[in-house]
Amino acid sequence: MMNNSVEQLEWRYAVKKFDSEKQLSKEKLVILKNAFNLTATSYGLQPITLVVIQNKALQKELVSHSYGQEQVAQASHVLVICIENEIDSDYIANYFDKVKKVRGTSEEILNPFKESITKSFSKKEIREIKEWSKNQAYLALGNLLTICALEEIDSCPMEGFSPPAYDEILKLKEKGLSATLVLPVGYRAEDDLFSTFKKVRKDMSESIIEIS
Ligand SMILES: Cc1cc2nc3c(=O)[nH]c(=O)nc-3n(C[C@H](O)[C@H](O)[C@H](O)COP(=O)(O)O)c2cc1C
Repeated sequence: MMNNSVEQLEWRYAVKKFDSEKQLSKEKLVILKNAFNLTATSYGLQPITLVVIQNKALQKELVSHSYGQEQVAQASHVLVICIENEIDSDYIANYFDKVKKVRGTSEEILNPFKESITKSFSKKEIREIKEWSKNQAYLALGNLLTICALEEIDSCPMEGFSPPAYDEILKLKEKGLSATLVLPVGYRAEDDLFSTFKKVRKDMSESIIEIS
């Protein structure tokens, strides 16, 4: 018998048609928000923000900026994972202030680490920082996909959208953010053909190397 979490991962798939009548409960949404916020990130800096959309008119408008993918309109909610446009010394200082407040760690202990991170980021080009932030966005996506599977929430991870259009429509630039990944969530339509398709994956003997 297969372990329950593996069964749930088999159950999930990238939904091509959502049931637009079915909505996520408030409780399920809170679970997804927590899963996003609890995502592990490099240094703990969390250079990511989740925009949660539940607005049919806006969702419909976003379809044409998502290569016509109707899931964006049909889904109960559309989650947009955004990254910070800049990680400067103030951003890093805020993080360390939070560590001090939450854990009561002394500045004497925190400062060497804070200085080393601040120095390392000051040497990086914006492009490099954005790439690093994007990596954190993908981690959050992975985390959300797994939690969706365990909670029997359907989803479709999406890179297929126009980030500049999303930035403009969602007024993200004003918030210092850029849209990076989109995740419509909700419940699969009964007639979504893709729910019947078998999973296509490498044999585990190809994808896993065991060294003992
Ligand atoms: C980062 C990422 C971006 C993706 N973008 C899209 C997308 O824009 N539209 C879509 O229908 N599926 C998209 N997919 C879904 C993949 O095609 C799908 O996960 C893959 O074929 C495996 O199928 P399964 O998830 O149904 O098991 C994306 C998946 C990932 C992980």
